Amino acid sequence: MDKNLHMHELTLNKLMEHTISHLVIIESIENETDAYLEAEVILSYLFQTEFINLRVDFKKYRHAFDKEKLNRILIRRISGEPLAYITSVKHFYDLILSVGHGVLVPRSETELLVDEGINQINILKKTKEEINVVDVGTGSGAIIISIAKNITNVEKINLFAIDNSKHAIKYCKENIKKYALEDKITVIHSDLLTKFHVTPHIIFANLPYIDEDDMFSLQKEIRNAEPSNALNGGKNGLAIIIKLLKQLSGILNPKMIAIILEIGINQDDQIKRIVKEYIPNSNLSFINDYQGIKRVAVIKNKN
Ligand SMILES: C[S@@+](CC[C@H](N)C(=O)[O-])C[C@H]1O[C@@H](n2cnc3c(N)ncnc32)[C@H](O)[C@@H]1O
Repeated sequence: MDKNLHMHELTLNKLMEHTISHLVIIESIENETDAYLEAEVILSYLFQTEFINLRVDFKKYRHAFDKEKLNRILIRRISGEPLAYITSVKHFYDLILSVGHGVLVPRSETELLVDEGINQINILKKTKEEINVVDVGTGSGAIIISIAKNITNVEKINLFAIDNSKHAIKYCKENIKKYALEDKITVIHSDLLTKFHVTPHIIFANLPYIDEDDMFSLQKEIRNAEPSNALNGGKNGLAIIIKLLKQLSGILNPKMIAIILEIGINQDDQIKRIVKEYIPNSNLSFINDYQGIKRVAVIKNKN
C-alpha cells in the first residue's frame, strides 16, 4: 500500500491514482477508462456514498478513510474476484441488484432482452386480458424484475422466475423483496419448464451458451469465480437452449407470442437451424448488441 496516503494530506485525486495504479494490472481491465470507472465504484463502496459526493466535498468524508479496508478490497480484486462480488451489488437497467458467489453477475447486453420484452408486452397488452411472462434461468432476477418495474398495467401480467440453482433462487428472492415484488413475481426452482404448468405467452431465456470446449479459454476471472452452471452450455453451447425449445415445441400454441433468447457470438446460424426444427411455425429475427454482434434471437409465432 502506498506510504504516501497520509490522512492529513489525502486528496481524492491521490486516492484515485493509487487505486487505478493497482487495478491496471488486472487481466479483465482493458484500459485506463475501465480502471478509472472501477476505482470510482471502489471508492464509493469504501466511503459508502455516491462518487459525486466525494467529488463535491472530499474533506467531509476524508476522516472515514480506512486504508486497511481499501487494501483488502484491492487484494481481493487483484486475485481475480469480480468487482460486483466484492461490493455485493450490480447496476442493471434501472436497478441495483444484490449479487454474490453462486449467481451470475448480470451483463449490460442482457438489457437488450428487457427492451425487446417491454415492446412485445406492450403490443400484446392491447389484445390480451392476461399475459404470462416467464424468465427461464433468471439468476439474480435481473430480467424479470426490470420487466416488473418498467411495464404499466402490471396487474394484467403474471410474472414467473425459474432457475435450477438454489444459490440463484436465493439472490432472485432477495432482489424481488428489495423491490417489494413478492406478490407480483412467482419464483420456481425447476429444471427449465419441467415444474411450470402455465401457458407461457412471453419467454425470456438468458441460459448458459458457452461451448463446453471453450470453458477453459474463458477469462480466468469469469471461469474461476462465476458459477459454471450459469455459463456452460454443453455441446456447441446450445444443449440447454435446445432442451428449452424442445419443451416449448410440445406446449406451443397460437397464443404463445415470443421467445426472447440471448445467444453467443456466431451462434445465429445454428439458432436458425434449431428454431426451424423445433419451432417451425415461427419468424426468427436477431438484435445486435453495441459491438454489432447478433446477441438476441426473437422467435415469434407466425399466427
Ligand atoms: C447466463 S445465466 C443468466 C442469469 C440471468 N438471467 C442474467 O441475465 O443475469 C444462466 C442462468 O440459467 C440457470 N440455469 C442453467 N441451467 C438451467 C436449467 N436447466 N434450468 C433452469 N435454470 C438453469 C443458471 O443457474 C443461471 O442462473
